[in-house]
Amino acid sequence: MDIEKAIKLRQSIRSYSDKDIEEEKLMKVMEAARLAPSAANRQEWRFIAVKSSGTRKELSRAAKGQQMVKEAPVVIVCCAVTDGHIMSCGQKCYPIDVAIAIDHMTLQAVELGLGTCWVGAFKADAAKAILDIPKDIEVVEMLAIGYPRQKLEVKDKPRLSMDEILYKESWPEK
Ligand SMILES: Cc1cc2nc3c(=O)[nH]c(=O)nc-3n(C[C@H](O)[C@H](O)[C@H](O)COP(=O)(O)O)c2cc1C
Repeated sequence: MDIEKAIKLRQSIRSYSDKDIEEEKLMKVMEAARLAPSAANRQEWRFIAVKSSGTRKELSRAAKGQQMVKEAPVVIVCCAVTDGHIMSCGQKCYPIDVAIAIDHMTLQAVELGLGTCWVGAFKADAAKAILDIPKDIEVVEMLAIGYPRQKLEVKDKPRLSMDEILYKESWPEK
């Protein structure tokens, strides 16, 4: 599958079939994360692959009861081991780096016929308690992953137009 097709096919999947993910496919998805770029190649990301349905139920409770967290056969809890390094541009690098790794995962997943959904609406402290994650570790995001209940099809994405997001040469005048 070419990258343009994967980008267009990727969409948030909130309903998953019972089918487990083959270990080989899961490892391919994780390899896509491992190969992602990061600021100064810091690679602060760490991932916990949660398959236990009991643990996913607990994580779902920490995530406002979101159904997909218990329904998806695997939830990747995306963390960072970080000193909170701030780049010269003023931004922390760890959330950016973890997000890039997650995006790699979502696109690799599409190529393998898998669906994903980012989960940012969750209580990090609760996730830490459930997974024995030390206090000094950041829990950035969760990613639900599994076989979508419905076939992935290219759909119109509700997005701003190019004119609204791409400015020419400088910030536009009001
Ligand atoms: C950082 C981030 C956090 C998100 N958190 C959630 C979430 O907690 N629950 C959810 O259902 N979707 C979540 N989403 C999915 C977005 O709602 C979705 O990506 C957006 O509406 C665009 O739809 P699409 O992914 O189908 O293209 C999140 C997406 C991102 C990038």
